Amino acid sequence: MKHVTWAILFLTPVAFALQSSGGGAKDGQRVFRLNGGDVSYVVGVNDEGELQTVYWGKRLPESQEFQAPKQRQGLASFDMPVNTTPQEFTGWGGGLYLEPDLKITFPDGNRDLVLKYASHTATADQLDVVMKDISREVYVKVQYHMDSATGLIRRSAEISNRTGAPFTIEQVASGTYNLPRGADYQLHYVTGRWAAEWNLQQQPIHGGKTVLESRRGTTGAQNNPWVMIDRTGDHDQDHGDVWFAALGWSGSWQIAVEQDPTKGTRITGGPNAFDSSYLLKSGETFQTPYFYGGFSSNGTGGASRLLHRFEVDSLLPHAPHPKLRPVLYNSWEATAFKVDEAGQMALAEKAASIGIERFVMDDGWFGQRNDDHAGLGDWNVNPKKFPHGLKPLIDKVHSLKMDFGLWVEPEMVNLDSDLYRKHPDWVLNFTGRPRTEGRNQLVLNLARPDVHDYVLGFLDKLLNENDIAFLKWDYNRNWSEPGWSAVPVEQQKNVYVDFIRNYYDILQKLRQKHPAVEIESCSGGGGRVDLGVMQFTDEVWTSDNTDAYDRLFLQEGFSYAYTPAVMMAWVTDSPTWVNQRSLSLEYRFLSSMQGSLGIGANLNKWTPEDFAAAQKMIAAYKTVRQTVQQGDLYRLMSPREGEQAATESVSRDGKQVAVFAYLHSSTQMYPYPRLYLRGLDENAMYELHPVAGKVNEGTPVKATGAYWMHHGVDLALRGDFQAAMFTLERQ
Ligand code: DGJ
Repeated sequence: MKHVTWAILFLTPVAFALQSSGGGAKDGQRVFRLNGGDVSYVVGVNDEGELQTVYWGKRLPESQEFQAPKQRQGLASFDMPVNTTPQEFTGWGGGLYLEPDLKITFPDGNRDLVLKYASHTATADQLDVVMKDISREVYVKVQYHMDSATGLIRRSAEISNRTGAPFTIEQVASGTYNLPRGADYQLHYVTGRWAAEWNLQQQPIHGGKTVLESRRGTTGAQNNPWVMIDRTGDHDQDHGDVWFAALGWSGSWQIAVEQDPTKGTRITGGPNAFDSSYLLKSGETFQTPYFYGGFSSNGTGGASRLLHRFEVDSLLPHAPHPKLRPVLYNSWEATAFKVDEAGQMALAEKAASIGIERFVMDDGWFGQRNDDHAGLGDWNVNPKKFPHGLKPLIDKVHSLKMDFGLWVEPEMVNLDSDLYRKHPDWVLNFTGRPRTEGRNQLVLNLARPDVHDYVLGFLDKLLNENDIAFLKWDYNRNWSEPGWSAVPVEQQKNVYVDFIRNYYDILQKLRQKHPAVEIESCSGGGGRVDLGVMQFTDEVWTSDNTDAYDRLFLQEGFSYAYTPAVMMAWVTDSPTWVNQRSLSLEYRFLSSMQGSLGIGANLNKWTPEDFAAAQKMIAAYKTVRQTVQQGDLYRLMSPREGEQAATESVSRDGKQVAVFAYLHSSTQMYPYPRLYLRGLDENAMYELHPVAGKVNEGTPVKATGAYWMHHGVDLALRGDFQAAMFTLERQ
């Protein structure tokens, strides 16, 4: 019976296959190969018309040919071949027990979907394979784009409803990446929460499924939509095969890492299906978010260097030449909601004196915003705090040779606001049910066209009326009661997708209308960082946790997926509010200088010595900022592994190297471990320049790359919470 069923299914796809040309195919076989960087990605149409993974890994010679894949046998009567064959995009139907890429409920009650090859188009870096259900007019264009420099693949799928009636997408992924059978895979991912984002986790991949997700309506900090898989054994930061995947979606999301019955590993990523569905009318298409995948044979460090390069060269708004992040000052930790014209002007003067390039006024400038109970939604300047509007402050900031940035939280509303009093129906809610508040605020339903227009309208007005160079776009709670009663019941769960689409639309339109304005994505810290929002924002707020020692951990976790070019890192006051830990100003600077430097301290409390030290460190940072932000990052010692931590950044042109080293505490008189640098030219001469802290006596000033990498360098670091920094300049 099983045999008969599959034989019948076979007829339709072959008919399609015969109609189209066989780009990349041998003897009429359909095998498609994408090459980029040091990576080859090969898929093929199997004998059953399914789109099957053939190879993903180190680039293979052009001369290497591939046979079209064959559908695998099932296992006894319990696992049909759909569970044992590594498909690229699988409909839920025909006895699939693994995570599907697409699950549909049709109006007649049918929920079976079996996708087979229909046609394709292929160029050197783009492959589109159209799949069709075996009987219904449901088409899925499985899309691949290969980045020629890094070998990163960008997957997505476009679902077309040509059935003549609406249907409901119950679950949809951007696609599935398959790794061949292996018992030694290890999964790496990050977990966290507010003020404790970016904790690296590691676990073996074995039977079962690990689901990383957000059900929060937005990216969230609980997990971040990025995974990395390496193999146990001979591997480290610079060696070994590593695969990684990251989702470009800022709404509820899911990445499932699952072992199939043959111990193959599948990575399926897309919007989260929990409480969500999408009513797709006839004639409409649904475009999934991008799901990126990459491979490196240069260890976990090599994997993150590839991702960083891709983000800087291909993803960020001004890629391939994103602007370097200016050194900014932010008022939040200094003044909280107590902002006013005189106070901000005084801070601006002090900020300018140490070399700050951008002055950002945070929360508190609008409506009745004196604390977090009121004002959100009323985006008019508070006349008591700024009697003449923002202009005098902005003019003052400009006169001090800085540009001006402003905090906003556009998607939120306080109950105590004119906006909520006027439009209580604009928030996410279920009619007649409680509206759970977080930080005394509710979430505006951005999926509604009127809310979309309102948010775009006030932001556009704000930017038209004021000379603002930068918006810090905050988002300080996650969803509850995500009802959308203004549309028919069967469409209400579209809210998870339509909200995010409108969010992206607003960001995109603002950027078009105000191309010089830069935007930071913040969500009470690092709660909205992903490859989706990074297409529209120039930087992200890493965490509200600004304890410079904690930051070493957070920044390391962050760096696995995201480039330091977007990683905002402020120097704040000591002892930090986070842990009551006391750290020297120099240590705090050296921690923040690993990323995009900002100052968030209360400058009103600084001594003349603090100002002098800050001036010196900011000047030093400016000399290495391009290297740190856009260079190649090497993690020399992890704070997770002991008392020490160190990173090295090598500029793209190889001319400059910046090394940061940290010591938690000395014990038993042991010296600081020798640092062995990486990524240098063995034969070139490099001159060492200490910036902070000391190298050991006897360290040469000039030496070859080979010396710095193989002999290494000793630092004279002793004590508790010590840090050092030096540069190497190629001669
Ligand atoms: C949360 C952000 O992460 C902080 O930096 C600050 O902007 C506050 N919100 C303001 O309410």
